[in-house]
Amino acid sequence: MTDQAPMPSRQPAEATAQIAPRPSPERAGIGLRAPHHHALLETRPAIGWLEIHAENYMGGGAPRHYLEQARALWPISVHGVGLGLGGSEPPDAGHLDRLATLVDWLQPALVSEHLAWVGVDGRYYNDLLPLPYTADSLDHVCRNVGIVQDRLQRSILIENPATYLRFRESQIAEAEFLSRLVERSGCAMLCDVNNIYVSSVNHVGLEAAPAVAAAYLDSLPDGIVGEIHLAGHAENDADGRLILIDDHGGLVAEPVWDLYAAAVRRFPRAVTLLEWDSNIPPLDHLVAEAAHADRRRAAALSAATPDSAPDPSDERAA
Ligand SMILES: [Fe+2]
Repeated sequence: MTDQAPMPSRQPAEATAQIAPRPSPERAGIGLRAPHHHALLETRPAIGWLEIHAENYMGGGAPRHYLEQARALWPISVHGVGLGLGGSEPPDAGHLDRLATLVDWLQPALVSEHLAWVGVDGRYYNDLLPLPYTADSLDHVCRNVGIVQDRLQRSILIENPATYLRFRESQIAEAEFLSRLVERSGCAMLCDVNNIYVSSVNHVGLEAAPAVAAAYLDSLPDGIVGEIHLAGHAENDADGRLILIDDHGGLVAEPVWDLYAAAVRRFPRAVTLLEWDSNIPPLDHLVAEAAHADRRRAAALSAATPDSAPDPSDERAA
């Protein structure tokens, strides 16, 4: 277990003074999605924080109206999906400007993006696409993360992807690639444990996946993870072969909870976020799953340090 501060460190003093309180690791957050805007503000559930998809709030109108009210009640994280930091081209200047405008206005606690590319030569795809892990691609990603951090004047977190193929050209393991990226660029890692599990099953099969996923987590250096994502996945039969799809459309699977327990023991100061983006349920279902994450986290930490076992009747775990 590490006690190192896991959050990005490059926060200018002036900006830090304006930034909303950071989320607490002890209470998970949920993704803020349009169908829940009204219910969330009406019921003000006991969640720790909110994460928004940056691209949904770059315009004005109703989404910004709800976000403005939500930010007064919970810490907010801005999670981008459109910069394509894993591409060989620099991020689109216009898109980065729109992100910077949002971040300047919102002053979120955290800003994150993905280890993925989203387009080439001005063509964009509505997906997070995988990249080969090589010395060259690492140079590109480091450059791109640097461009974003310089523009935003803050450090960001980069999320490991869910993948469905691997490249013959890859020379670096994904966990090592992310570790080197963190070391060189000064960003932190957003560790999506569902993505680790989905990729592991897709690449090595159901039986070997738990050990491969655990080894991935073990190989990460102390202190690099600032945020953990939890989500559900779908099972697909691809001509008799099981393929997991990272659809964020259901409850978190049991093997992912096991990985989450290992992750919070490794990175106890990382904050947790529950993602749910398809088959979106009523808000109270999401809140209940986030509360379940809090109980799982407390149980994992109490198992690691029996002397500090939390009271099971604690309101946090109710
Ligand atoms: Fe995620």
